[in-house]
Amino acid sequence: MTAGKKIWKFLRRSDAEQEPSDAAAQGAEAVSVRVRKYHRRDREAVLRIAAESFRGVCLDENIEKAFGKTGASWQEHKMDTVDYDLEGHTASCLVAEVDGKVVGFACNRLYHNRSVGHMANLAVLEQYQGKGVGKALLGGSLDHFREMGMRFARIETLEQNERGQKFYTSAGFQEVGRQIFYFKKL
Ligand SMILES: CC(C)(COP(=O)(O)OP(=O)(O)OC[C@H]1O[C@@H](n2cnc3c(N)ncnc32)[C@H](O)[C@@H]1OP(=O)(O)O)[C@@H](O)C(=O)NCCC(=O)NCCS
Repeated sequence: MTAGKKIWKFLRRSDAEQEPSDAAAQGAEAVSVRVRKYHRRDREAVLRIAAESFRGVCLDENIEKAFGKTGASWQEHKMDTVDYDLEGHTASCLVAEVDGKVVGFACNRLYHNRSVGHMANLAVLEQYQGKGVGKALLGGSLDHFREMGMRFARIETLEQNERGQKFYTSAGFQEVGRQIFYFKKL
């Protein structure tokens, strides 16, 4: 299935544009998290999380701020990217459940020729952030990579994503480079 077809019906404007609260920054308690394989029935929940969780830490949002909407909103572009992995790398995608509700996801890819597992997208619903859900998804992804014979793991984050940087270095990732993204009107 192609990403970006009429699948974003559930994304109400108010959902996509809601302002983040500071709940995650208040040091909330850990919750009981179950990480499991992604199933197609999770697609809508995952795409909703993708649309709601990346405000302030998304390249497409930066572009929209600088150039206006490019075809669709930045949330829709983000969902397209995530949907591409859900379709193309289904077996490596994971979801995190709390009390039976999908509250986070990890879209992973395997580069067999380099023995590298790539965490292409990772997000947790804002009200569940700071409770150990991201850590559980990261751990589940690394376990999956090892089970699939990968010897290395890769992840990227934007410089503006301070939480991401803290997270990955504290999980043992080593910084190996920085990239600058450019955009231009034609
Ligand atoms: C980044 C993200 C996936 C982390 O998931 P999470 O469930 O909030 O994180 P956890 O509670 O498991 O904490 C994992 C680590 O993240 C960092 N972290 C979590 N909350 C933080 C906060 N409020 N401030 C700074 N760092 C924080 C810490 O390093 C933490 O490890 P520690 O508890 O040992 O210090 C989540 O915050 C998120 O979805 N953010 C928005 C989307 C995003 O940035 N995705 C990643 C793009 S690369």
